[in-house]
Amino acid sequence: MKSFAEFFAGVGLVREGLSQHGWSCVWANDISKDKFNTYNDNFGDEHFKLADIWDVASDSSIIPSSTFLYTASFPCTDLSVAGGRAGLAGVESGTIDALFKILEAKCRVGTKPNVVLLENVRGFLTSHGGEDVAETVKRFGDLGYFTDIIELDARDFSAQSRPRVFVVAVQESLAMQTMKLNKNDEVFDTWWSEINSNDYLRSHRVKSIISKNPSLKWGILELDFDVKNTIRLKDIVEKDLQDDSPLWWSDERKSHLFSQMNLNHIKDLELMQKGETYSYGTVFRRMRKGKSMAEMRTDGFAGCLRTPRGGSSKQILIQAGFGDWKVRLLTPREYARLQGVRESFILPENTNKGYFAMGDAVCVPVIEFIAKQILNPLFDNYKMSNKAMDFSDKAKTAGML
Ligand SMILES: C[S@@+](CC[C@H](N)C(=O)[O-])C[C@H]1O[C@@H](n2cnc3c(N)ncnc32)[C@H](O)[C@@H]1O
Repeated sequence: MKSFAEFFAGVGLVREGLSQHGWSCVWANDISKDKFNTYNDNFGDEHFKLADIWDVASDSSIIPSSTFLYTASFPCTDLSVAGGRAGLAGVESGTIDALFKILEAKCRVGTKPNVVLLENVRGFLTSHGGEDVAETVKRFGDLGYFTDIIELDARDFSAQSRPRVFVVAVQESLAMQTMKLNKNDEVFDTWWSEINSNDYLRSHRVKSIISKNPSLKWGILELDFDVKNTIRLKDIVEKDLQDDSPLWWSDERKSHLFSQMNLNHIKDLELMQKGETYSYGTVFRRMRKGKSMAEMRTDGFAGCLRTPRGGSSKQILIQAGFGDWKVRLLTPREYARLQGVRESFILPENTNKGYFAMGDAVCVPVIEFIAKQILNPLFDNYKMSNKAMDFSDKAKTAGML
């Protein structure tokens, strides 16, 4: 069975993406009661352990032992360039240590997963000058995994710019059949020059981490990136919102936003208003030289969604055309659409909880891409080699070999 356990499950968007490609969730964990409530509304609570991952780590036998894949979309707070950058030494992003404690325990009893998938922000690659991610690859290596790192941006799949890093660790015997391995008996430079092609999925940051750490157990997956995204902001905004909806901001609030825009953005807005159709832009407030500025993007993509911890992190939408413009916050449902979530997905009734549910979740079609391009082929390979082994065992027993 294509089984997986999801750590840091949140509202379950990893599950949402994987289950569309034949994967069954056998276990899930998160610490947040609010996230659990949304998860439960959509998937039920059968496999969900609402707990601190450190408590799970002290008794990992509660995780089903024959689980093929572990996924962990662990907290980005200490890795994000917007945060304090404590890195993996930080309390929140450091919860990855609990995952490794679980993997070590599973290793000791011979039931480690065949594949582990980590997801985090791009800051993971630069945290402590790349040392944090290299240390993570080393820890996987010590447990008998070969590791690849790829980067995917939600903008290739939906109307949101959301660059993310995915670390894929594959158990040695499976990696030998599915990855190009940097084995200790090979010259790193020769191996690396053979596979260091102009790859869309591995930026110079990833390549530099690999080449600066030649002694780590790297395994490179062969991947095709043939994706064409046509979804833009105009496709995900609420279409039937009345002009007198209370969601639209008052003139006073609108003027305040306007006063925070720089000249270039004001010119863009004037141009948008002249249009004979509506056009859309999103705005984030950012501190620039000690001043709060309203920065608008009009390229058809929303900026990266975040959880609204401070007042400024909710994303603002501007609709302009026919000589006028209006402003409101994006709604939680629009957040969900930007994460590629189906319309029938149940969101929290409370708007703020809705922003929290979607703001730090994963983009579903990105997970689907990973399922199709990476996880399904890994599983198929595993199954085929097991069948071959079964056949040879039976043949030996029957005296045919
Ligand atoms: C980046 S979010 C993952 C979101 C998830 N992939 C989704 O689709 O909703 C990180 C998650 O880690 C959870 N978390 C933070 N600290 C935790 C801990 N100590 N134990 C378990 N979960 C934790 C948070 O509640 C949050 O849901």
